[in-house]
Amino acid sequence: MTSTLASPDLRRRLEGIQLPDPLGFGTLMAPVMAIAHYRDGAWEDVRLDALDPLSLAPHTQALHYGQAIFEGMKAYRNLGTDLPGTALLFRPHEHARRFNRSATRLGMPELDEDVYVATLERLVSTLDALVPERQGQSLYLRPTMFGATAHLSVVPSTEYCFVVLATPSDAFFTAPISAWIERRFSRAGPGGTGNVKAAGNYAASFAAAAPLAKLGFQQLLWLDAVHHTHIEEFTAMNVFVRRGDTILTPPLSDTILAGITRDSLLRLAGSLGLSMVEKPVDVAELVDAIASGEDVEVFGCGTGAVVAPVELIGDETGLRLPLPPFPVATRLRRHMLDLQHGVLPAPAGWQRPV
Ligand code: PLP
Ligand code: COI
Repeated sequence: MTSTLASPDLRRRLEGIQLPDPLGFGTLMAPVMAIAHYRDGAWEDVRLDALDPLSLAPHTQALHYGQAIFEGMKAYRNLGTDLPGTALLFRPHEHARRFNRSATRLGMPELDEDVYVATLERLVSTLDALVPERQGQSLYLRPTMFGATAHLSVVPSTEYCFVVLATPSDAFFTAPISAWIERRFSRAGPGGTGNVKAAGNYAASFAAAAPLAKLGFQQLLWLDAVHHTHIEEFTAMNVFVRRGDTILTPPLSDTILAGITRDSLLRLAGSLGLSMVEKPVDVAELVDAIASGEDVEVFGCGTGAVVAPVELIGDETGLRLPLPPFPVATRLRRHMLDLQHGVLPAPAGWQRPV
């Protein structure tokens, strides 16, 4: 797909941008975004615009009551032999559908799925020079919607803003991570918003995460909010546990985000000769298994992180458990990246070349 930028100003902003090395995550924002407003019950056409500050009234609804959702997606450079050099969007319709599920849960209007995907295609095509060439790097895409009505009444907005931002990035984690079993705070309660990408879910994790980041822990591993006995997911990734030949991941519920990477791994498992089962994972049993030297792997997965092996687990009781090597997580990470970069053929409908 080709795209032309009508405005000379936008074209100028895209000239001569050098990708930093190391690239990092979210440090270099693309100077062009997609934006559309919802007013009087309808979405206006999406347009491309400069990434300039938005002008918002201090009483904009989303700032007070948190009517805000987002998605995380990536455009990977096609390093394969079929349409080489294009950019590849991974399962964009799945992300569009989840965006709408998030919108519905927060009382916001849906966006037409085809408009969502076409917007991403247009933005990626415009920003093609910012899609990195290196395996593992990508143009990270951040579709966001927030309640834009200026009012303090505790009711949904009547106006909304949809923006799609882009940032050339490394994967979230370029090395194995340390994970903290969070036993005090909860991420998501039954009937809440844990199964959608509501902005407030992430804000709710910050106070718990900040002191642990200082101790070198990059992700919190959340337990079920009612009994605190079963693992649910990380702050920004789903979780998998391998015990011997069986790989487990907690079944989806209203407190777990239905990750598209999680779903992809479950669908791919059979063809990779792996046995993956959706089954509750008791945290005490998991800790005992690691402590007793069982062959265990724990890894996270998500768009940003791809597949992230855990090399150390800790908690507030002073537990510090190093994990053995992670051959399956390493294999899955490589496999996902090969698929996403077009090096290996992906199942029908997963890849959208731009
Ligand atoms: N769980 C949470 C809470 C997340 O924020 C994410 C990332 O989007 C995931 C899981 C993984 O989802 P996906 O694989 O669709 O990126
Ligand atoms: C992603 O993995 O893309 C996400 O959206 C997680 C987010 C908290 C950065």
